Amino acid sequence: MMNPKTASLVTPYGGNLINLVTKGEERLELIAQAGRLPSIQLSTRALCDLELLATGAFSPLDRFMSQADYEGVLQDMRLRSGILFPMPITLTVDAQSLAGVGDAVALRDARNNLIAVMQVEEVFDWNPQTEASQVLGTTDPRHPLVSEMIRWGRKAISGALKVVDLPQYFDFIQLRRTPAQVRAGLAELGFDKVVAFQTRNPLHRIHEELTKRAAEEVGGSLLIHPVVGMTKPGDVDHYSRVRIYRSLTERYYDPQRTLLSLLPLAMRMAGPREAVWHAIIRRNYGATHFIVGRDHAGPGKDSTGKPFYGPYDAQELVAQYADEVGVQPVYFKELVYLPDQEKYVEVTQAPPDARIATISGTQVREEYLAKGRLLPEWFTRKETAEILMQMYPPLHQQGFCIWFTGLSGSGKSTTAEVLTSLLLERGRQVTVLDGDVVRTHLSKGLGFSQEDRDTNILRIGFVASEIVRHSGVAVCAAVSPYRAARNECRKMVGTERFIEVFVDTPIDVCEQRDVKGMYARARRGEIKGFTGVDDPYENPTDAEMVLSTVDITPEENARRIIAYLEERGFFTVDGARG
Ligand code: ADX
Repeated sequence: MMNPKTASLVTPYGGNLINLVTKGEERLELIAQAGRLPSIQLSTRALCDLELLATGAFSPLDRFMSQADYEGVLQDMRLRSGILFPMPITLTVDAQSLAGVGDAVALRDARNNLIAVMQVEEVFDWNPQTEASQVLGTTDPRHPLVSEMIRWGRKAISGALKVVDLPQYFDFIQLRRTPAQVRAGLAELGFDKVVAFQTRNPLHRIHEELTKRAAEEVGGSLLIHPVVGMTKPGDVDHYSRVRIYRSLTERYYDPQRTLLSLLPLAMRMAGPREAVWHAIIRRNYGATHFIVGRDHAGPGKDSTGKPFYGPYDAQELVAQYADEVGVQPVYFKELVYLPDQEKYVEVTQAPPDARIATISGTQVREEYLAKGRLLPEWFTRKETAEILMQMYPPLHQQGFCIWFTGLSGSGKSTTAEVLTSLLLERGRQVTVLDGDVVRTHLSKGLGFSQEDRDTNILRIGFVASEIVRHSGVAVCAAVSPYRAARNECRKMVGTERFIEVFVDTPIDVCEQRDVKGMYARARRGEIKGFTGVDDPYENPTDAEMVLSTVDITPEENARRIIAYLEERGFFTVDGARG
């Protein structure tokens, strides 16, 4: 039953394209106008929001929220018109980017492509703490949206939109459909009832069970509607997930009853409110039913180790508003596997003494993928297991970066050279990025000011991160005197694959060796800003290894690094690449 008060207001736009100016004179004029306007660059999140506003996925919302809508949504999940909408959708900007913005502003993507023109009707202040506590029920920075919101600009702007182009994608384009296209696809399948499934995770057997049982229960078709916009940081990337969804729907689902379509949504991980929002969005895509299982859109645990939301809070809130949304929830308690009966049941249905098998997300990564073990068939289809293994190879097939830091003449390059031979001997692909050598090509022309030194180090870090991403080994040997720049490189590479090796040779030893004659020249004042003489070297505080070169040979040090890498699992037991 619809709520009679709001039934007529449910979908004024019916999930159709809004203000999309794709053709003709008007478009040319709009592009010309945009060229004269100041611009705002949209974040990935804002771009996802704008796309869903433009395609009608957020109907009845057709613009970033005005202050009245925003405050109503924070307060009691309603737009000023009274229509239910549980999630704030704002375009936030900092005061600086607003300087010079008048009646209208061009909205552009990260590469400055024009996406839309907004008539600026309102600018208002908003407060991240207030929004977080009202919408997310927490201000704990462990919540992934809380930590993100703190960085957003403190002004929100709103006004009518004219959209020139939807964001362009080149991946899986056949699976990217607007609400109208999804509704047409569902109409072709010909069922009155449609149950939608939201997901941000790989499809395992549990999800296959949930979706097939839901379609059966509802007696309708199934819309598999995974999120490919923004999900929880650390989730499996959408390329792997979509490959999984595609191969599973092709092989294990009834094509007469199933539609797979991708949703460019930026999730908020807001649990209960997010679940209601998901239901509204799926209504706009043509669903009549929506699956809400355990811990829907849950962000995990807070800083005290407690889950942010109860496992069934989302189900309760969706139940409360189902009639008004016009989508009926299909609930599932937590599903668990009973190995003795070889089936999945809701945990409440499991006999008290039954053996239960589960594999958590962390176990998938640490116990299976990192060790190169195939996931069992009761847990996931072999297609899924293989795609995950391919994308997340075991540690001994992944790349890493050895980052030597230390004073000039401390022994970085020599140790790096020995280490490189030992790595090559173990079948690893190695690229050496030596500071002196890099300055002859990649960083040619840079000097020794702090800025130039940082630029040089960040360039090395960038190249290293690309090598590591492609499973190679980067051995970097540069003085890299500043802690902040080294930490930036660590972030670029990823801390779990960045091994900082501090070659801790005292300055008097380096000076005594003075292999390049540089210390003598620096002492005579012929070289200015020489590290250790008249420019600082900031000792690492959290290096993975500290080497002494006073009584230890470069060869011994290189072997110590190899032993460390073995212990970390970067090589298989026999020391070879797997
Ligand atoms: S979510 O953030 O999109 O909710 P996920 O992709 O893991 O995360 O879940 C998709 C849907 O399946 C949600 O409705 C969720 O509640 C449900 N779900 C996932 N795992 C289980 C499970 N073990 N038991 C019951 N429901 C589940």
